[in-house]
Amino acid sequence: MRKFNGWKAIGISILFIVLLQTMGLSQTDKTPFADINNTRVLPMLKNLPRTYGGMNIPAADGRFLHDLIIENKYQRGLEIGTSNGYSGLWLGLAFQETGGELITLEIERKRAEEARKNFKKAGLDKVIDARICDAFKEIPKIEGEFDFIFLDAWKPDYMEFLQLVRHRVKPGGVITAHNVLNAGREMQDFLDALKTDQGLETKIVRISSAGVSISIVKK
Ligand SMILES: C[S@@+](CC[C@H](N)C(=O)[O-])C[C@H]1O[C@@H](n2cnc3c(N)ncnc32)[C@H](O)[C@@H]1O
Repeated sequence: MRKFNGWKAIGISILFIVLLQTMGLSQTDKTPFADINNTRVLPMLKNLPRTYGGMNIPAADGRFLHDLIIENKYQRGLEIGTSNGYSGLWLGLAFQETGGELITLEIERKRAEEARKNFKKAGLDKVIDARICDAFKEIPKIEGEFDFIFLDAWKPDYMEFLQLVRHRVKPGGVITAHNVLNAGREMQDFLDALKTDQGLETKIVRISSAGVSISIVKK
């Protein structure tokens, strides 16, 4: 009988652990954080919703919007409902890559100040203009057009926000909105308006159970 070789057993165990870790990593590659190489933003994208506890979009939805901005090279975004800035981190990261900018609006001072701190910590404060204001009052004061809108304030207000931004979006630009599936009943007027607007091409995607509407302004 061959003598049991302890070192050989340890070697095989290490090989197994490395193999399992590699398999784990390839699984991680499929997460919303795959290929996000910005080491300042990445830990915040992973941990901010947990430390804040609610209201933030799921990471997968953030990644979807991030990719939408980059794929279409959008240049000027408007977010309504910043909260502590979690979705803003995803959007800001994308606009940093396209060379664009994001204006984000939050009515609640405490949350908006937290968002500003988060944008600074992430190194995105040059890309993101975070305003503490009532979006209903602020939007008419902002000049120029947008090519990306993200609605994520209180759901029954979506319709009124749509009316405010609808004609401020360039052809080829997009109006997106969060929670259109899990809070659809609170915004039925908004969803109907998207459907009947001949100038918009709308689809609803279920990346998470919340649902995101994507309405491209026809050229
Ligand atoms: C669902 S949270 C936004 C979450 C954020 N987009 C994220 O994923 O990190 C909605 C936010 O909209 C803000 N809000 C509601 N009405 C607003 C208004 N009229 N103007 C600006 N912000 C508003 C609320 O104070 C709240 O912080």
